[in-house]
Amino acid sequence: TLLSTQLSGDQVIVVSNREPYIHERTADGIIVKRPASGLVTAVEPVMRACSGTWIAHGSGTADREVVDGRDRVRVPPGHEEYWLRRVWLTAEEEKGYYYGFANEGLWPLCHVAHVRPVFRESDWEAYRAVNQRFADAVVAEATGDDPVVLVQDYHFALLPAMIREKLPEATILTFWHIPWPNPESFGICPWRRELLQGMLGSTILGFHTRFHCKNFTETVDRYLEARIEHEHSTIAYREKETLVESYPISIEWPAPEQVERWGSIAQCRERVTARLGLPEDMCLAVGVDRFDYTKGILERLNAVERLLEKRPHLIGRFVFVQVAAPTRNSLDEYRNFQEHVQRVTDRINLRFERDGWRPVHLLAHHHEPHAVMELFRAADICVVTSLHDGMNLVCKEFVAARDDLQGVLVLSRFAGAVRELPEALIVNPYHVEETADALYSAATMPPGEQRERMASLRSTVHEYNVFRWAGRMLADAGRGRLRNRIEARV
Ligand code: G6P
Repeated sequence: TLLSTQLSGDQVIVVSNREPYIHERTADGIIVKRPASGLVTAVEPVMRACSGTWIAHGSGTADREVVDGRDRVRVPPGHEEYWLRRVWLTAEEEKGYYYGFANEGLWPLCHVAHVRPVFRESDWEAYRAVNQRFADAVVAEATGDDPVVLVQDYHFALLPAMIREKLPEATILTFWHIPWPNPESFGICPWRRELLQGMLGSTILGFHTRFHCKNFTETVDRYLEARIEHEHSTIAYREKETLVESYPISIEWPAPEQVERWGSIAQCRERVTARLGLPEDMCLAVGVDRFDYTKGILERLNAVERLLEKRPHLIGRFVFVQVAAPTRNSLDEYRNFQEHVQRVTDRINLRFERDGWRPVHLLAHHHEPHAVMELFRAADICVVTSLHDGMNLVCKEFVAARDDLQGVLVLSRFAGAVRELPEALIVNPYHVEETADALYSAATMPPGEQRERMASLRSTVHEYNVFRWAGRMLADAGRGRLRNRIEARV
């Protein structure tokens, strides 16, 4: 309801690279997969609530069959609440735009996680061309001259200005889901000015935290001739004003029926222990991430190893399960990282294993949302040790999963979420000793203290849910649209 009043009759178009439903062809026919993506987790419930059209890159092996000659398909499958329009990219386009510029250039550039960004002229060309193709799709989908367009993430820095050129009256809300670095770090990108100019085509530009807004504004100040109004958080560039604001993203708070579908905590625990062949009376820590070098998975394994060295009585009694969803596998940096994690896992297991018990279970395959929730409900500890993360929604999902008020969250101080979740055990993942000690505190925390911390975490995530994220952004947009209508009348 909140969203529908804010949008009252406006057309909403979302653009993101990743689609919310991927259709894969298997031996048993077509199956639907939900991708592991914080962006999709957050934006999908908003889209369901406000209908509209979602434009994304078609990435599944059976996506084209499902669309079947039409441009668009109603989703979610079986519920049909909004339109999904897929943009088909050639292998060349995907290589340059997605793997190349977005994920070898912008991803490491913005995360500053000690992986060098790679900038190729040809990737940049593809990135520009694909942004233009999505701009054309937005224009094709627009039914009037002033749609509300929600542009998602670093795949589309050039899109706002491209849409603005064709639809000058559009309200363009761009949300940057990853961190924004300081001006020096960003400045190594050969196309820093073009990227900034593209983003300043937005009516509103959102980041997760004030800190990222500040970094962005300073970057603009350093590399463009723009007028910055600190008091109103606006940037005026070429006659056009952009509001730069922080909107911490979140998740949809689970409805009671949903919680029921997950099964009781005891059932979840039983299912997980049986499936993985774990000892009954153990302390279970879990990590759930895309298999990405920014997530601090190696640091986490080192901490587990250190924990077992320092607290040998946990040998045989402590299990760490890491779900790592394969991602961006055709990039060397990812494949090397994934192999490295596998080697470290094997080494730790070889060092400590005994009588059928091993400390680390690495599950390097895709898990659907219900399987992740089951694991969260079975766990004693959830470990999020990102080296740098815009927000991180895994920690919020863990909190939402624990209606029993038990379970301890260990959280990196370099994830945006740390600002909202101070009741977690906060660690610097680069500090192995500190992280190992936090794991020990988590493993030995009395139920009363767990309850106190978890209750407080839950009330924050419940209140600051994803509808508040979208609602605040759309309310800001609504005010701007109203102002424009009033000005047009006088
Ligand atoms: C991060 C990015 C998203 C992206 C997701 C999954 O959350 O901010 O834009 O969709 O990772 O990555 P992938 O490359 O598989 O879409």
